[in-house]
Amino acid sequence: MPERIMIEGGVPLRGEVAASGAKNAALPLMAASLLVPGEVILENVPTLRDVSTMKRLLEHLGVRCQGSDTLSLDSSRAGGWEAPYELVKTMRASVLVLGPLVARFGRARVSQPGGCAIGARPINRHIAGLEAMGATVRLEHGYVVAQAPRLTGAEIVFEAPTVTGTENLMMAAVLAEGETVLVNAAREPEVRDLAEALNAMGARISGAGTDEIRIRGVASLEPVTYRVMPDRIEVGTYIAAAGITGGDVKITGCEPGHLRAVIDRMEKAGIETVVGPDSIRAVGGSGIRAVDIITDPYPGFPTDMQAQFMALMTLSDGLATVTETIFEQRFMHVPELCRMGANIKLSERRAAIRGVRSLSGAPVMATDLRASASLVLAGLGAREGVTEISRVYHLDRGYERIDEKLARLGARIWRAGG
Ligand code: EPZ
Repeated sequence: MPERIMIEGGVPLRGEVAASGAKNAALPLMAASLLVPGEVILENVPTLRDVSTMKRLLEHLGVRCQGSDTLSLDSSRAGGWEAPYELVKTMRASVLVLGPLVARFGRARVSQPGGCAIGARPINRHIAGLEAMGATVRLEHGYVVAQAPRLTGAEIVFEAPTVTGTENLMMAAVLAEGETVLVNAAREPEVRDLAEALNAMGARISGAGTDEIRIRGVASLEPVTYRVMPDRIEVGTYIAAAGITGGDVKITGCEPGHLRAVIDRMEKAGIETVVGPDSIRAVGGSGIRAVDIITDPYPGFPTDMQAQFMALMTLSDGLATVTETIFEQRFMHVPELCRMGANIKLSERRAAIRGVRSLSGAPVMATDLRASASLVLAGLGAREGVTEISRVYHLDRGYERIDEKLARLGARIWRAGG
């Protein structure tokens, strides 16, 4: 019987939980090790399936990877330049090796990441940026084949922000000839974290975290030790968990400044938050108010918190709308939430959630990482029955020991089968 997560909800969560390192910061930082011959050491690396997948890919490219929480990556003897389909198909973020490979070795052959549950997710903007920097890029047999004796700086204007596109091209530009300017760049904190690490290696990047990033190419980079930033989406998920169970949870080791849009919406939904320099205490229990959200690139409400917020709204006191502007089909969690008694109507990019008095536990299926998080939240909020979540590998891609952390907060949650 494949592994499932079982939840018997209705318990107000109480206590403290520490934020883990951010998946979406760790992955580009790991890829960046390809840029520098020598030992790059990353600290606070979360234990996740996606991190293991990236390790396997880097080892395939010749990078020596050692450790876990503290991860040593040495690409001194790396020489591989192909990211094969069987690895890339399990994790789209594999595309993050494209820029570093072309910058370091002058060539790359990376399987085109297929679509996934939340959308087609093309990488045309990544490719257009590399071509602007002088690379020749061909698409053949499902692979992106890029070559450039030496990349040259260019002005690259994104038609719309792309997080990994910004990261890929920033990494390509650090060793290019001359200056590169990324216009309409992604402003996510993970982009800034990557820029800070690259600058610590000797890169010359300014403007990361704004929509215009300047990168002046340098001849080479030096190894560093760098600490991965806390995971803002994990933190937001635990705030929602406190809200949906009427609990009182303090999340430590986080950066509240990365969650202003999320805290704003959670407060309006009736969750009281007490914000410290590196902690957020979330107190539910006074009922959940219906609040509308529209996802938007950072610093707007993150699409990666959309499914979790929707789970919270299923128990609200009215009608809430959730508008998803980033991905074309990030509503795979809706039918599963409805199986638990939620009242949700879908139109094109909008979900209308009419709060119900209670949810009931049911067997449900995870379809993608954040959809599975929303099912965990719904299970925690269901006051009757047991929720059985299958395909938990989606959850383990992006949440470090989520069942252990929730159990320590009092949740009745356990793994079965496997
Ligand atoms: C990153 O994905 C994150 N992944 C995603 O988190 C997150 O949902 C997303 O950014 C948006 O914030 C990592 O950082 C590893 P995009 P990414 O390029 O970079 C379109 C999670 O749950 N687009 O910013 O792939 C694209 O289709 C994951 O942790 C193009 O059209 O997202 C989407 O509609 C899920 N062409 C929009 O832009 C391109 O070349 C934003 O995508 C690139 C993107």
